[in-house]
Amino acid sequence: MNDEDLSLTSAESAPPERTAEAALRPRRLEEFVGQKVVRDQLSLVLDAALARGRAPEHVLLSGPPGLGKTTLAMIIAAELGAPLRITSGPAIQHAGDLAAILSSLEEGEVLFLDEIHRLARPAEEMLYIAMEDFRVDVIVGKGVGATSIPLDLPPFTVVGATTRAGLLPAPLRDRFGFIGHLDFYDAEELREVVRRSAARLEIELEDAASIEIASRSRGTPRIANRLLRRVRDWAQVRGTGRLDLDAAKEALRVYEVDERGLDRLDRAVLSALCGRFAGGPVGLSTLAVAVGEEVETVETMIEPYLVREGFLLRTPRGRAAAPAAWTHLGLAPPEGPEGVAPMLGRF
Ligand SMILES: Nc1ncnc2c1ncn2[C@@H]1O[C@H](COP(=O)(O)OP(=O)(O)OP(=O)(O)O)[C@@H](O)[C@H]1O
Ligand SMILES: [Mg+2]
Repeated sequence: MNDEDLSLTSAESAPPERTAEAALRPRRLEEFVGQKVVRDQLSLVLDAALARGRAPEHVLLSGPPGLGKTTLAMIIAAELGAPLRITSGPAIQHAGDLAAILSSLEEGEVLFLDEIHRLARPAEEMLYIAMEDFRVDVIVGKGVGATSIPLDLPPFTVVGATTRAGLLPAPLRDRFGFIGHLDFYDAEELREVVRRSAARLEIELEDAASIEIASRSRGTPRIANRLLRRVRDWAQVRGTGRLDLDAAKEALRVYEVDERGLDRLDRAVLSALCGRFAGGPVGLSTLAVAVGEEVETVETMIEPYLVREGFLLRTPRGRAAAPAAWTHLGLAPPEGPEGVAPMLGRF
């Protein structure tokens, strides 16, 4: 089966960036770079299920955007040789939509529920029962005449993905037999991602360029692949056609990706924090308004990497700038009673 036909990234409907992304997805677990712990654990779950000839337990994948959750869901289906159904929390408006999907599942099918934290409550409750008892109550008719008919489902596997595991209610989380948390990739792993992608795209990439791209990709394979394509553009249009260190540096300058991999928005958040809010702490929503972004964007796409790189601190009283943020922006960290050091002492 061709999983791209079922994916949200099919060639006809998807924007070009998405199509380019789909083309670079690893198809098998052994091609999946990095995330060694999750990969090992998952391969055990899958091998055991294959050996028993049964559908594996439900799998939950969590982690920041672009780290490989959708890719892994597709790999799970491929490794099991099982059909894959793809949908997402926001796409399921009513419990009936979920009932229709569940009642049409084939034996052993993998049901990928992206953004599972955004499922509506009634659908979520229906999902608990389906995941645990392999049963769904189908409502027939409307109003007073409506009756509920229990329908047994064949064994299937839910693969849920979420960028916000914390938002998942405990009863739902507990129904997953395996929870894998994806973390940011290190530079060496990203270099491997870039190298493989270049080979797939038949791009000749110099080693120094792949190191440069990897080190500026915010720990994220999706960004690494995107930067690779932008460097290729630059090399073709403004450079010599060679993807060397100069091309990488120049392209990344044009796209305002700095040497730590921070982009314009990352820096806007840090500038607001250090400038307007004097280092904080400041509430997340206030910070989001200051940079003209949604709270969710700041919380899921921007903040995790800034925290991990030691630029931003999450505190009970809000977000605060770490000394590295000031230094990175070329500012002197404040000193004295109002400065960063005593402020940190309070958390
Ligand atoms: N481990 C990996 N090895 C190689 N390429 C990867 C890996 N993980 C992700 N990628 C690449 O990064 C792109 C983004 O990955 P994917 O779509 O799976 O992320 P995601 O976690 O589902 O993100 P989102 O939360 O935004 O849905 C993929 O198209 C794939 O090419
Ligand atoms: Mg995804």
